Amino acid sequence: MTIAIRVRGLEKSFGDLHVLRGVDLDVEGGTVYALLGSNGAGKTTTIRILATLAKATAGSATVAGHDVATDPGAVREAISLTGQFAAVDEVLTGRENLVLVARLRHLPNAGRIADDLLARFSLTDAGGRRAGTYSGGMRRRLDIAMSLIGDPSVVFLDEPTTGLDPEARLEVWDAVRSLAASGTTVLLTTQYLDEAEQLADRIAILHEGRIIADGTLAELQRLLPPAEVEYVEKQPTLEDVFLAVIGHGSGDTDTAAHQKEVA
Ligand SMILES: Nc1ncnc2c1ncn2[C@@H]1O[C@H](COP(=O)(O)OP(=O)(O)OP(=O)(O)O)[C@@H](O)[C@H]1O
Ligand SMILES: [Mg+2]
Repeated sequence: MTIAIRVRGLEKSFGDLHVLRGVDLDVEGGTVYALLGSNGAGKTTTIRILATLAKATAGSATVAGHDVATDPGAVREAISLTGQFAAVDEVLTGRENLVLVARLRHLPNAGRIADDLLARFSLTDAGGRRAGTYSGGMRRRLDIAMSLIGDPSVVFLDEPTTGLDPEARLEVWDAVRSLAASGTTVLLTTQYLDEAEQLADRIAILHEGRIIADGTLAELQRLLPPAEVEYVEKQPTLEDVFLAVIGHGSGDTDTAAHQKEVA
């Protein structure tokens, strides 16, 4: 097993605002890792540092074996970032968007790369249509497809399904699953707890600048005692765990085996 993303003691301040106060995390290669947190928790800030778009105030991080601070060029060659807001050009067709990115990356066979990605994301039929006519799910899939040009080994997806309807979310989920199945490492942020439940091999909860809990869904569920409902033992949902560990809700987290100490 290889560690694709390693973060140690990461801190980030904007003036007096201490957004990240010592984030530690490890993401195993070829897995999907979900970073959960409320609005303003620092999810995008973390991703921007890992993608070399922002500098940490303290701490260290390596992505695909390269240090983000001392070797940002090598990191950029190994990653792609799909931001919170889609980067698709609406005037161009889906295929033209893909060809454009492939040309910008100086790749030979831009047309073939575009056609392969259209097929992989079920956009072949729509490939000749202006992206402005696409549904939200199709646009997001195109956005993710564009980010895969050049075969990045690590993909950052910042809230890949925010604003999408349920059907479009399922389409994007399928795209993320196929990424992971092909060996790509995916770090995604989300505010949708069911998204993390559905997609992630491991889930981390970012709160007040630190990862306050992380593990597989089953490990996180063990943080809360199962609720007795008549004769059926009901597992706590990830939402129960999330609200309990960030200090809202009534769950009892005293027995939290995997919960980290919050200073
Ligand atoms: N360039 C900046 N200058 C000043 N403050 C910033 C800057 N970037 C982010 N912040 C602040 O840092 C905090 C974390 O922001 P961030 O965008 O990382 O949160 P987030 O977890 O991605 O939230 P959301 O769920 O709303 O996307 C917020 O309070 C934000 O206002
Ligand atoms: Mg964000």
